[in-house]
Amino acid sequence: MNQREANSGSLDLSAFWMPFTANRQFKSAPRLLSGAKGMYYTSYDGRRILDGTAGLWCVNAGHCRDEIVAAVREQAEEMDFAPTFQMGHPKAFEAATKIAKHTPGDLKHIFFTNSGSEAVDTALKIALAYHRSRGEGQRTRFIGRERGYHGVGFGGISVGGIAPNRKAYSGGLLPSVDHLPHTLNIAEAAFSKGQPAWGAHLADELERLVTLHDASTIAAVIVEPVAGSTGVLIPPQGYLQRLREICDKHGILLIFDEVITGWGRLGAPFAAQYFNVTPDLLTMAKGTNNAAAPLGAVAASHAIHDTIVNGAPAGIELFHGYTYSGHPIATAAACATIDLYEREQLFERAARMSPVFETAIHKLRSEPHVIDVRNLGLVGGVELKPRDGAPGARAYEVFVKCFEKGVLTRYTGDILAFSPPLIVDEQQIDEIFTTVAQVLRETD
Ligand SMILES: Cc1ncc(COP(=O)(O)O)c(C=O)c1O
Repeated sequence: MNQREANSGSLDLSAFWMPFTANRQFKSAPRLLSGAKGMYYTSYDGRRILDGTAGLWCVNAGHCRDEIVAAVREQAEEMDFAPTFQMGHPKAFEAATKIAKHTPGDLKHIFFTNSGSEAVDTALKIALAYHRSRGEGQRTRFIGRERGYHGVGFGGISVGGIAPNRKAYSGGLLPSVDHLPHTLNIAEAAFSKGQPAWGAHLADELERLVTLHDASTIAAVIVEPVAGSTGVLIPPQGYLQRLREICDKHGILLIFDEVITGWGRLGAPFAAQYFNVTPDLLTMAKGTNNAAAPLGAVAASHAIHDTIVNGAPAGIELFHGYTYSGHPIATAAACATIDLYEREQLFERAARMSPVFETAIHKLRSEPHVIDVRNLGLVGGVELKPRDGAPGARAYEVFVKCFEKGVLTRYTGDILAFSPPLIVDEQQIDEIFTTVAQVLRETD
């Protein structure tokens, strides 16, 4: 069946209520993918599509890698499922050990979830449990950030800073949450290469919130080191260091949501190592097992783990977990993925390709509609001037035309986002941005 046949109805599109999708628009002109290998997807109508986004910021080692496919197949044959409540199986322990080899500082205790959203809500719950264990149970407030994305659980949307994700559910948001301002300022920092020089002072807003609420009520601050989903917001130089200092000063936990920045995206295992700022809790998902099966995790420091576990009376220490926490197939895929990252030195490769990526994406500066280009590691954003009265329409059109020309991009509002698999080469980087440039010239 080709794209046209799918469009004409021989594939029934009606039952699947698609997530974060304009369902009516999509189903009137679907874009279907049917295969993937390495840097490429195959579209339903048989075209090769260069993956400029690692799927959804997740297929960091490239698609359908033989070693990961084999690990998934073998695990599915050997043991499909085993509980991790009061039972165990080796792959979950092996995967946690392999993950802990790469997590920063002493964040060596790994709690498995099935997604980034669950990892975020788990981290928030661990923060509350930690303060309660140490006798400061009144620390219940969380500080998130405007334009932050932390998934779709009630915790995640509460600390997140995206109005449409919150508005319909406003009655159910966590009661004690405040937000830092986001760090994007095009007037001050447009076309910055890497971290903008302007904006570290925005971290001082945390002091203002501490004064307002009192430190004794605040459990944790959660931020994405680089905000991905709202259009690639790169932290200003010194900003994350300053957040760390203020948290330390007031006994507030710092949580890095590394669902996107984890596993090599910046050319280091995690953004924490890249920025040399170690949080107390770190969330991951996506690249942890190259998205071969649903998996997320929280890495916790010794202090947090030991306070909760050693401080509890005999019995279960943390009343939290998912049926699929440490699922055999997902963790088998994580073991194979991490082995692959190490063997092919993909994080080092990402670091080496970053300057090539930077040069290529910044060439778009002179193209029509472009009002900002920003980048770090192998992640980049290109912000377009919105069409009068139709915000988002221009970027959507560019996204569709790029797909038609064989390049997968992402868009949010009027921002195009790029995050290719870490195996991307120079020609492919060139092809991604040459295609975007051509499309921008053809777009009014
Ligand atoms: C920073 C961040 N946190 C959390 C999530 C949610 O992850 P998931 O979609 O796996 O629930 C995402 C997803 O893109 C993310 O980028």
